[in-house]
Amino acid sequence: MSVPVIAIDGPAGSGKSTVARGVAQTLGWSFLDTGAMYRAVACEALFKGLEIHDEVAVATLADQSEITTLPRVTINGRDVEDEIRTPAINEAVSVVAAQPLVRRAMVSRQRAWAASQSEGTVVEGRDITTVVFPDATLKVFLTASIEERARRRGDESASSVARRDEADSNRTNSPLRQAADALFVDTTGRAVDEVVKEIVACLTTHR
Ligand code: DC
Repeated sequence: MSVPVIAIDGPAGSGKSTVARGVAQTLGWSFLDTGAMYRAVACEALFKGLEIHDEVAVATLADQSEITTLPRVTINGRDVEDEIRTPAINEAVSVVAAQPLVRRAMVSRQRAWAASQSEGTVVEGRDITTVVFPDATLKVFLTASIEERARRRGDESASSVARRDEADSNRTNSPLRQAADALFVDTTGRAVDEVVKEIVACLTTHR
């Protein structure tokens, strides 16, 4: 691996995006939200009227689409930043993310992204520590209580968050798992800055 990578996994609402962004900002590194990539693919599949369970069709779309996550989430030039957080996409994304061919397309893009960075990068998702970058410089597993995670998700209900966790953790392909050598951080009741500092401090002992 040419650039240092901090890989962060955890369930919905565990604070991954906020913490990953904070760590990246502190270090002057780039940041990749891989959940936004899967969400963008789900949006485009619905937009194009694809049958969401048609794995080959969705994976072909994933392969052929241009996706950006910053400064806005776009797919094939269409801004989907707001649409990716809607209930319809919360449901559809679990279907899309369980499809092995879609995952294969996403994983290769995520590795290409890291390879193209000049400094380090912070990448967050569900399979980043276990599948995408098992040799990352530092691996982190974030979690928080279900009540706090649902509260952080704002308008997504606790039952919807729990349903998605269940689907993400029990799917056959790349389920959410804590890597044995990942730093475990429970963010319940903790300030973002404090968690960011803990991860940055841990990096210095891992380099
Ligand atoms: O982090 P998020 O809630 O935006 O992720 C959206 C969905 O995508 C979630 O249901 C899990 C899935 N996902 C995944 O399977 N693998 C990743 N690396 C990132 C997200």
